[in-house]
Amino acid sequence: MDKLVINGGNPLSGCIEINGAKNAAVAIVPAAIMASKGTCTIDNIPDIEDVHCLERILESLGCNIIIGKNSVVIDSTSINNVNANTEDVRKMRASYYLIGALLGRFKKASVELPGGCPIGVRPIDQHIKGFEALGARVEIKHGCVTVEADRLIGTNIFFDVVTVGATINVMLAATLAEGVTTLENVAKEPHVVDVANFLNSMGANIKGAGTDIIRVVGVKELKGCSYSVIPDQIEAGTYMIAAAACGGEVTIENVIPKHLESISAKLIEIGAEVTENGDSITVKATGRLKGVNIKTQPYPGFPTDVQQPMSTLLTVAKGRSIINESIWESRLKHVDELKKMGANVKVEGRTAIIDGVDKLSGAVVKATDLRAGAAMVIAGLIAEGSTEVLSIEHIDRGYPNIEDKFKALGADIRRVSCSE
Ligand code: EPU
Repeated sequence: MDKLVINGGNPLSGCIEINGAKNAAVAIVPAAIMASKGTCTIDNIPDIEDVHCLERILESLGCNIIIGKNSVVIDSTSINNVNANTEDVRKMRASYYLIGALLGRFKKASVELPGGCPIGVRPIDQHIKGFEALGARVEIKHGCVTVEADRLIGTNIFFDVVTVGATINVMLAATLAEGVTTLENVAKEPHVVDVANFLNSMGANIKGAGTDIIRVVGVKELKGCSYSVIPDQIEAGTYMIAAAACGGEVTIENVIPKHLESISAKLIEIGAEVTENGDSITVKATGRLKGVNIKTQPYPGFPTDVQQPMSTLLTVAKGRSIINESIWESRLKHVDELKKMGANVKVEGRTAIIDGVDKLSGAVVKATDLRAGAAMVIAGLIAEGSTEVLSIEHIDRGYPNIEDKFKALGADIRRVSCSE
């Protein structure tokens, strides 16, 4: 097992490039199994453990896969297995997209219940509600979700909560249903739109992704296509926050600035300068930033997935900041780690009250989940002295080459084996 060792205090400067979006890629790769003809060539795939996990799962289902540098070619014409029950399936969240994809194409599937970050209860009732509305029988037994339908028939589905996972999963199944499916109160995240665009490139007929209502006209079959995944909004947001927290000037390339508006707006409110220039964004910060209040919300609101990195920045901002985490009930576990570094934070339920301190001090801390890991890396970068971030397998699930990217910006950070 590895850890990251960081000597804090360096300002960040220079350029880095953002990779393809994790949360789009982890839906697009399983969606590729819906092609009954041809192959899917997918570019701008991030080199992260969650994607590698899915590639192994697809191979276990009988797909032929060629993995390139930031690309994958998937031939799913020879799938011979609709039971996804390997350790990889249990380990990650997005394996639940196999349910919608297999149900759509084969009208049946059996998929182990998904794992993922320990950030609170992660129900799948809205996924099940959608599959049942389309005509599937759904059963959960021995830790496995089994779905089966004689036919899938389009219908109207109104989600009780705005959920990225259920929106995508039910959209996958509806793509190959008979007739029209209308999904209401859906998630509008950029990755929802990206998955819809990918399915349309395969021959689906989906309109409205990115709005509150998605209309899917079922088609008989999908075929292979070439597609490029959108840049990662959350990876970009993380580096923007790191740039502001460390001070200096960083240009983040290969981004869609529109997807970053809520993060840019907060950084400007905090006192940083943010400049958009085509497909890049520059963050500049000098002097001490000031505290703000944040409430996480579905897109286009402030994303829960950068709440933890932002909370690190706020530990050294001037004055009091209040963070309200409205999406996940346990996404403040990293606060105990920040406290080891001298942060002054009080957690009450889903709220963190942060009183800014002058500086953090290096310590041995752990990544309690993926984005908490990024938060601890940023804490190490701004702290005085040396920080060791343990349990970085969480970080490797979602951030490609994090230490190389920070090193390129002037940070003193290195990956070492825990046995060293
Ligand atoms: N919810 C339900 N019922 C459901 C599904 C969700 O009540 O059937 C609730 C959840 O409990 C939560 C809210 O709805 O309170 C939103 O959950 P959502 O379904 O949107 O989350 P998800 O699809 O499981 C994805 C991302 C998360 C990200 C959330 C919110 C993937 C693989 N994961 O999770 O990303 O936090 O959307 O944007 O796409 C991360 O990347 O670090 C991460 C955790």
